[in-house]
Amino acid sequence: MPANDFVVTPWEVTGEVDYEKLVERFGTQLIDDPLLERIRKHAGELHFMLRRGIFYSHRDLNWVLEEHEKGKEFVLYTGRGPSGNTHLGHLMPWIFTKYLQDSYDAKLLFQLTDDEKFLFNEGLSLEDTKRYAYENALDVIALGFDPKKTEIFLDTEYIASLYKTALRVAKRVTFSTAKAVFGFKNSANIGSIFFTSIQSVPAFLESQRQGREVPCLIPCAIDQDPHFRVTRDVASALGYPKPALIHCKFFPSLAGSDKMSASMAETSIFTTDAPDVAEEKIMNAFTGGRATVKEQREKGGKPLECSIYQYYYYVFEEDDGKVAELSRTCRKGEIMCGECKALLAERVKAFLVEHQRRREKAKDKLEEFMLRD
Ligand code: TYM
Repeated sequence: MPANDFVVTPWEVTGEVDYEKLVERFGTQLIDDPLLERIRKHAGELHFMLRRGIFYSHRDLNWVLEEHEKGKEFVLYTGRGPSGNTHLGHLMPWIFTKYLQDSYDAKLLFQLTDDEKFLFNEGLSLEDTKRYAYENALDVIALGFDPKKTEIFLDTEYIASLYKTALRVAKRVTFSTAKAVFGFKNSANIGSIFFTSIQSVPAFLESQRQGREVPCLIPCAIDQDPHFRVTRDVASALGYPKPALIHCKFFPSLAGSDKMSASMAETSIFTTDAPDVAEEKIMNAFTGGRATVKEQREKGGKPLECSIYQYYYYVFEEDDGKVAELSRTCRKGEIMCGECKALLAERVKAFLVEHQRRREKAKDKLEEFMLRD
């Protein structure tokens, strides 16, 4: 891999991601202004993740919106691979999915791939991934999804309803396609090679249940797109519409690298972190600040390289004017890194306290959301 190159697959994100190049590589489309205007008309206002280009790429989004304009409902589908606790990066696409559910009054199918994380993680047992799945489900519920319009399921528990369609998908995907799309080596276990067929199924589920074509829109970070290329390739042969997608960029880690990742606990904030632990992680975060306060005041900071600024930008400051002002004061050396970190820590702590309270309450509501065979 050349020094400046990058890799994005559902299981690996390395190097400095060039998001525009990724759109070319994957063959997706950038979300343009007419598309944004269309969503704004439907939703009343644009979510800040759309205004800022955090959700920036799509497949067939125009089609789903056209169908919506004709009065046809669509279903949302997203998910989580339960390999551990939920971090703030995972929440990002779910917060956006909630906006879509509210704006379009859409049903949501939420898949917990406990099978996937068992197959792909040497150290995890099926009991571990099931336990994490239920933990992660609490985070989904805590975000306030409508229980009447949201169904959550674990693959290993809902498999009787998924398996036949998974087989139909699997029969149409060759080993060479799986290798080309996901980069599997000969050492990959055969369960992992089959797995993508399971992730395809929920895209077809609502059409199957209703016995007619129900468009499906999948919000996710762009790392999941390879799965759905496979899903889209087999859809028409199976008699279903191709699912549409809307992709986001990655919420960065506190180390300043591209993607918050659960395997780097010190530079990720988990929804289950005690507020003072989160604060400590923030106070230790990378800002790219100057060596001395004097130098910082003279030369200013570099917000685009700073993980703290990215936190405000991606999740913790919805007001565009305030984000612009923060960027300005940083570049002008008017705000020091320590102060900026402390302000963010207060916001993150308040968020965690409230989220953890809602998570506790979610325990009583779990069964309202769970979809079972
Ligand atoms: P998982 O558990 O890796 O991630 C869950 C969701 O979070 C997104 N994501 C991120 N988004 C922003 N910033 C980050 N740093 C970040 N890290 C992860 C992922 O793209 C995903 O949307 N196989 C899937 C589970 C799944 C799924 C789906 C995801 C099953 N069906 C349908 C999306 C759509 C997985 O392991 O996700």
